[in-house]
Amino acid sequence: MFKVLSNEILAPELHKLVVVAPRVAKARKAGQFVIVRADVGDERIPLTIGDADVEAGTVSLFIQAIGASTRKLVAIQAGGFIRDVAGPLGLATHLENYGRVACIGGGVGTAVLYPLVKGLAQAGNEITTIIGGRSAPYVILQKELGALSKNLLLTTDDGSLGVKGFVTNVLKELMSNPETCPKAVFAVGPGPMMKAVAEMTRADKIPTIVSLNPIMIDGTGMCGGCRVDVGGEVKFACVDGPEFDGHLVDFDLLRDRLSTYKDQERRALDRCSADKCKIGRS
Ligand code: NAD
Ligand code: FES
Repeated sequence: MFKVLSNEILAPELHKLVVVAPRVAKARKAGQFVIVRADVGDERIPLTIGDADVEAGTVSLFIQAIGASTRKLVAIQAGGFIRDVAGPLGLATHLENYGRVACIGGGVGTAVLYPLVKGLAQAGNEITTIIGGRSAPYVILQKELGALSKNLLLTTDDGSLGVKGFVTNVLKELMSNPETCPKAVFAVGPGPMMKAVAEMTRADKIPTIVSLNPIMIDGTGMCGGCRVDVGGEVKFACVDGPEFDGHLVDFDLLRDRLSTYKDQERRALDRCSADKCKIGRS
């Protein structure tokens, strides 16, 4: 059992849980994740390790309450317990000093981007971070990412904060000026966003790393659930990733595979929303 020390709402439906997990906190590296079960028999949810405090023996997990299982997780308040936290899993981010890098977070993906930015800053990179959301409340971790970045640029789809439009509009601006054009790009967010970023950087051959979030079950390379196509080869995001060369990823296959269980997920959520289950609803 893993004790929840705090449960903070960062944005609509997005929670940050600080959980006591000393061995994970000590072993984890930027880019790795854990698989979490709220209780025995529950769905297994892969979650990026957002941050870790080795002395306190804690990890921070960012959880978007989009389905029945994630609602159950975010309903666990400080003092409560999560049944299983398994990890760290996946490959750590390859960190080097590229010089000038752009780090791009779309919506909830910004939480996954945070440990990468922290690692890249520690490696000495000059970082421009671009974070976007559909409107102001969905733009998260501004203070934390601002502290690690030379420049922090914000976008919203509706123009309620920062530049109006998508994160890619701002990347285009950066790329148009040789003084600001990045030597490498890291992008985490919805598949269409990562695909759009990779298409923008392809012609100039700017190395572009994306973090994929396919469906995962065991997290150890055995079930095949997290299969992705990278450069025409089958890769398992849980053991070969979750980060890959964005220019090689088949994003259309990723989109199709992510939608495989949409009906089941909707039915589970409907059951959860019915009168007897109010988890995650305040
Ligand atoms: P969202 O749809 O609100 O988009 C967030 C931002 O991404 C937008 O404000 C925009 O700036 C950018 N964006 C979206 N579509 C784009 C496009 N076609 N071209 C260019 N930029 C685009 O995102 P959300 O609701 O916060 O996040 C949910 C999505 O994020 C889900 O699809 C989920 O699977 C994905 N996600 C991915 C990861 C990951 O590790 N890659 C982690 C968490 C969530
Ligand atoms: Fe089963 Fe990756 S989650 S192979």
